[in-house]
Amino acid sequence: MTKPKLKSEELYPITHRAPEDVSDRVALGTVKVLRFVADRVFAGRYGHRAVVLETVAAVPGMVGGLLQHLKALRHIRDDQGWIRELLEEADNERMHLMTFVQVAQPSTFERGIIMLTQAIFYNFYFFLYLFAPKTAHRMVAYFEEEAVISYTNYLADIDAGRHPNPPAPAIAIEYWNLSPSATLRDVVVAVRADEAGHRDRNHEFADHLLGPTGPNDRGAGGDTSGEDVDFESVRQQSPDRDAA
Ligand SMILES: [Fe+2]
Ligand SMILES: [Fe+2]
Repeated sequence: MTKPKLKSEELYPITHRAPEDVSDRVALGTVKVLRFVADRVFAGRYGHRAVVLETVAAVPGMVGGLLQHLKALRHIRDDQGWIRELLEEADNERMHLMTFVQVAQPSTFERGIIMLTQAIFYNFYFFLYLFAPKTAHRMVAYFEEEAVISYTNYLADIDAGRHPNPPAPAIAIEYWNLSPSATLRDVVVAVRADEAGHRDRNHEFADHLLGPTGPNDRGAGGDTSGEDVDFESVRQQSPDRDAA
């Protein structure tokens, strides 16, 4: 008898990586504070929450890609695919935004939050990645852990009838190659899978920057040693790298 095909929710379960050092705890603590604020501001308004938070989520990949690009130029060496992957992550997050803005239009207040948050977060994350890239990737991984939880709650509310389940926006059907009869639930499942992929990859990026003998942060922006790291081995170990 053939096994039933696993659903996306089962393929990408909620996971949590316990922090292992001070920088991990700082990353997790920062994310938990932001989660607390987001829960207060948006409560169960998932569409609005998604629009505002996806404008933030699309920043780290672009910043990481830029700084890895500069590093590859500086050391005149191959980036082992990190730049493309980080830029793809940013593009994927931007598509989440373009999808959810079809579901919920941000209010004037929310547009103000978006502007202010970007001004602060872009600069914060740029300098974090420049001087502590491992912490930066760990922070994104913890953001994504929370995103998977939020989209799981979104699914639960749709399934319980507490949230409407309208037809999927055309942009989402095209981007994820969904069925023409797909609904918002199918979109949330696809986005949730993307977030789980980002989560796992960013934990792996952070692990790699930790190095085999302890923190070294050689692999990215703050690097001055010029020692090469084998990014390809990390890429090949990840079964989820194409999820995003
Ligand atoms: Fe996202
Ligand atoms: Fe994400």
